This record gives sequence, structure tokens and C-alpha cells, in this order.
Amino acid sequence: MKLIVANWKMNKTPKETKEYLETFLRLIEGVDDNVEILICPPFTSLCIAWDILKGSKVKLGAQNCHYEQKGAFTGEISLDMLKELGVSYVIVGHSERRWIFGETDELINKKVIACLEKGIRPILCVGEKMEEREAGMTLKVIESQLKLALSGLDEVSERIDIAYEPVWAIGSGNPATPEDAQLVHSFIKELLGKVRVLYGGSVNPQNAGEFLSMPDVDGLLVGGASLDPSSFAQIVKVSQR
Ligand code: PGA
Repeated sequence: MKLIVANWKMNKTPKETKEYLETFLRLIEGVDDNVEILICPPFTSLCIAWDILKGSKVKLGAQNCHYEQKGAFTGEISLDMLKELGVSYVIVGHSERRWIFGETDELINKKVIACLEKGIRPILCVGEKMEEREAGMTLKVIESQLKLALSGLDEVSERIDIAYEPVWAIGSGNPATPEDAQLVHSFIKELLGKVRVLYGGSVNPQNAGEFLSMPDVDGLLVGGASLDPSSFAQIVKVSQR
């Protein structure tokens, strides 16, 4: 099944979350169940989001987590805390976590392992920077990020999703071409076997269909265009065609 994800990043207060979700649920009434829809609001909106989404066809995800269960980790959030709020997916290793907050492949590996142990589905993000692409390193970078993030784990492909998000395409209005995404997605499947691979980076209602028409694009991770309920609902509807 295709997976369409809204990554709100650091946007929307609880009040704004409520308004958005009430509108969004109305807009997707009648949409078939042949696509999974996931919304990842900030931590502070999870509680109100779950109140509205439970019992609906929309699932709830978090944008980050800590790998320890509890303890002296000021400012961090554990997977048990997230689970109790209805979270079933966590985005792990987003490029903003890697490049703004210094998350290493080793840390990302710990988070992936912790999610799997807790029965939460990680969406592991990988992607090359522009200079790596220009140096012809794209596939090497992807392979290394995947190997390190999944080290010590076998046969995980059915329990995790991968998001290919070229760093230069995120929030830039300059997406990869669907053909470039297809190339990387099929490479990821060569490495990992049957795994769901989402594309992310400047997806909008106009280009979503082209990405999803590629044989190995199994879903979308949407940032900016997910902040408006009607534009995200349009992307969900495109994914059903
Ligand atoms: P964007 O973000 O859609 O705003 O490019 C995607 C992401 O970072 O997940």
C-alpha cells in the first residue's frame, strides 16, 4: 500500500493542529482505504491530534525520538511516551536532524533499533547533498547511510520504510526528477529487497502524480505542501489514482 506522509516540522500550535485536522478529515471523506495517510505534527500537538484522529483512517507519527526508554535525558522524548499518545510511526534521520542537529549514523542506528523493539515503524530518511551528487557520489552516499543506519539488523525490510530525500531538494522548490528518484529507489530495493521507498523533497499537488507513476516510488514524504490541509488532501487524492 502507498504511504503519504505529512511532516509538519516545527509548525502549528495545538490550536492550529485542531483546526487543520478537522478540515483535513472533512476534505478526505470518501477517499478509499487503498493508501495509508500519516501526519507527523510536533510533539506538543500529538495529544490533541490523537484525540481527533483516533478511529479515522489517518495515522499519527512523530518527527523524532530518543532511543533510551527513560532517564536523565533532559529535553528528550521516549518511544513509550509516543506510543501512549497513539504514535505508530517515527521519522528517523531526517536531513534536518542530521545536518542542523548533528545526528550521526550511529545515533540513527540506535533510534531505528529502538523503534523496532517497541513495535513502532521507523521511516528512515537518506539523501545526498548537492556536492555529493555533483561528484557522482549519490548511490555511494545512500548505500553508506543505509548500511550504517541498519547495522546489526537483518531482514528488516518489511518492518521499516525508507524515505529518499535529496538534501538539495528539501524545501527548495527544486525537486529531483521522477526519473532520478526512480533510479535511487530501485537501487535501494536492490540493496534491501522488498521495502517501501518514499520520495521527499519539494513535493506538491502538481508533481505528486509524476513521482507516484514511477514503478519504485511507493509513497511521498511531504513538508511545506502538507501545511495547508487542502493541498495535502489534494496530494492524498492524487495518490489514489
Ligand atoms: P519539503 O520537505 O516538502 O518542504 O521539501 C520534505 C521533508 O523535509 O520531509
